[in-house]
Amino acid sequence: MIISSSTDYRAAARSRLPPFLFHYIDGGAYAERTLERNVSDLSDVALRQRVLRDMSDLDLSITLFGERMALPIALAPVGLTGMYARRGEVQAARAAAGKGIPFTLSTVSVCPIEEVAPAIDRPMWFQLYVLRDRAFMKDALERAKAAGCSTLVFTVDMPVPGARYRDAHSGMSGPHAAMRRYLQSVTHPRWAWDVGMHGRPHDLGNISRYRGDPTGLEDYIGWLGANFDPSISWRDLEWIRETWTGAMVVKGILDPEDAKDAVRFGVDGIVVSNHGGRQLDGVRSTAHALPAIADAVKGDLKILADSGIRTGLDVVRMIALGADAVLLGRAFVYALAAEGERGVAHLLDLFEKEMRVAMTLTGVRTIGEIDRSICDV
Ligand code: GLV
Repeated sequence: MIISSSTDYRAAARSRLPPFLFHYIDGGAYAERTLERNVSDLSDVALRQRVLRDMSDLDLSITLFGERMALPIALAPVGLTGMYARRGEVQAARAAAGKGIPFTLSTVSVCPIEEVAPAIDRPMWFQLYVLRDRAFMKDALERAKAAGCSTLVFTVDMPVPGARYRDAHSGMSGPHAAMRRYLQSVTHPRWAWDVGMHGRPHDLGNISRYRGDPTGLEDYIGWLGANFDPSISWRDLEWIRETWTGAMVVKGILDPEDAKDAVRFGVDGIVVSNHGGRQLDGVRSTAHALPAIADAVKGDLKILADSGIRTGLDVVRMIALGADAVLLGRAFVYALAAEGERGVAHLLDLFEKEMRVAMTLTGVRTIGEIDRSICDV
């Protein structure tokens, strides 16, 4: 199979993965309208072509929270990444570090903090959820700090998990899920051999370490529903801001008023995000929400954005709409599922090339020069 884009990696991931895993990463909430619009609204952003401006010397690097990044991209926190390739979080983190960009470990990763952080030669970012068990959160923050994590990404748009119809149909949850998953594994032998047999233990590594016994994945979706805390408010973030000495980023902002609250609260950054269309279907796409948020808070804190980015061209578009940098979720997991670390490294090379073409033909030499004047918004 010839692979020249994240769309090709998606197709390769689809044939390799048991369906319950493919649909968990690929799907969104309810009718998936926001998921679709994330992609279509972003790719509808028309760019202004400029020519004959000597674009031989481009610089795609940025400095974010005091950290140099070779591209304005970090890998997003994605739960269960370790089910997509053997010890998947370690492989993805290595690919990101090799490219000179940050990897963000999810709270609900398979590999624990202590397995991933020492495998790479740059500080990792750590993502934290608000769980009912505040002692776990405290423990996770201490462990992330001890492992040298530089940035905390605090996700606030999942007080309850969104209704994802695909998961019930695919065997991720719903009746006879364990039996259905087993049958799917048997019919996907490459995955079964590589990850199913040799990628163990399959559990939520960070939580198992804390509890001292394996937290199985039998009912992952049920676990999320039972452990996430719907009472979360800005007040809950206060002790975290006091405990955490590194940069703190709040992920899941979609409204300018919430962005202004984030500035008043004093975080270092926000991620403009609808969780990849996985939470409240019907909310605005990130591409539609971002310009008004940038108008409200740009310069007061760093703005990251995700949801809908499938190409390097999309990265340039998101920055033109007001982001300082982006997070990449599904696209890297497709590449990881298809070809492990090598796939993620290749995908990042493709993104870099696509960004270079977009910058050359819109006449911008640095990431800082990209703004709304290069597009029709
Ligand atoms: C978890 O963050 C998910 O979106 O499933």
